[in-house]
Amino acid sequence: MELSTKLKNLPKQFFAHLVKQVSDAVAEGRDVINLGQGNPDQPTPAHIVKAMQEATANPQLHKYSPFRGLPELKEAVAHFYKREYDVDIDPETEVSILFGAKAGLVELPLALLNPGDTMLLPDPGYPDYLSGVTLADVQFETMPLLAENDFLPDYEKLSEDIKKRAKLMYLNYPNNPTGGIATKEFYQETIKLAKENDIAILQDFAYGAIGFEGKKPISFLQTEGAKEVGIEVYTLSKTYNMAGWRVGFAVGNAQIIEALNLIQDHLFVSLFPALQLAAVEALTGDQTCVTEQVALYENRRNVLIKACNEAGWPVTAPMGSFFAWLPVPEGYTSQQFADLLLEKADVAVAAGNGFGEYGEGYIRVGLLVDEQRLTEAVKRIEKLNLLKKPAELA
Ligand SMILES: Cc1ncc(COP(=O)(O)O)c(C=O)c1O
Repeated sequence: MELSTKLKNLPKQFFAHLVKQVSDAVAEGRDVINLGQGNPDQPTPAHIVKAMQEATANPQLHKYSPFRGLPELKEAVAHFYKREYDVDIDPETEVSILFGAKAGLVELPLALLNPGDTMLLPDPGYPDYLSGVTLADVQFETMPLLAENDFLPDYEKLSEDIKKRAKLMYLNYPNNPTGGIATKEFYQETIKLAKENDIAILQDFAYGAIGFEGKKPISFLQTEGAKEVGIEVYTLSKTYNMAGWRVGFAVGNAQIIEALNLIQDHLFVSLFPALQLAAVEALTGDQTCVTEQVALYENRRNVLIKACNEAGWPVTAPMGSFFAWLPVPEGYTSQQFADLLLEKADVAVAAGNGFGEYGEGYIRVGLLVDEQRLTEAVKRIEKLNLLKKPAELA
């Protein structure tokens, strides 16, 4: 059967190849240390699982949800933003419940743009942003995220033409894959740019809970004027290790929220009500699990960075997210280096070029295995002597 042109144009899943390589290696009996994926390794906290078990036993929660989600969950979202960021959210008009952040990210271009319109994306960036671009038939321009700018886009480099054309911009801090974090000044500049050029902003706050060295990542909505221009998308996947549960939400500008809700009225009947109540428990219950989770990632980060530096691999520690963005030694492309690590050291990493042109020269390492395995991975890499230039190996 012939697929639609739109479907045929969908971006190829760059990391599907890595997933296959890893599963083939594991099937051969190799002890692969998989640092390539983005799936939290720890279980969902017990009190959330218990809330889900109790909720599923209630037949009232087996029915259709209200189209736009349970009022209890929208109120819990507002409560969460007030408690965590001191941001006021109207649960009725400023919250959209999502099937994970991914759903909102893919839906928004369909909800706001017309075919041929332009949106701005970070490069390197989360690959799924491109799915929304193709489904909505829009064009995109990229904003390079460079180490010398702390992985924040430099708006002065955007041409007048691009600024004029752009109708929507995606940001993502703490950043996947670079581990960069945003500042208040950066968000102020963003809001100014958005107002001057009539650009809607989506800030992807998937790693919002994960900041290191005592620095809690700031919310876009904490900056004055943010709600006038944009929304922030949050997910329970990372904060509460609920990646498989598929719960996220968008908060902020009421018109953008209405647009998301409207498109969702035609696609879904919101999430399983029992799941929505478990999400209420996650957002409003004991938050000790989050503090512990962040400490666990920070310890892993410290162990990894120390091991890399001791192995003669000068790397910078990420300030947020659960990824480290490591420069590839001279003489290799990202893909060559990643392939060598898998082939020769049984260490899987994500090649940076899979995240965009400006990802070339890096690999992404997930802090999603224990400290002992992270140390072991660096030891294996060190043994290969790849950290020296190829010329030195001859
Ligand atoms: C930057 C970023 N945004 C969004 C998502 C998707 O999150 P969710 O599980 O809520 O769909 C991810 C998941 O890896 C991510 O890395």
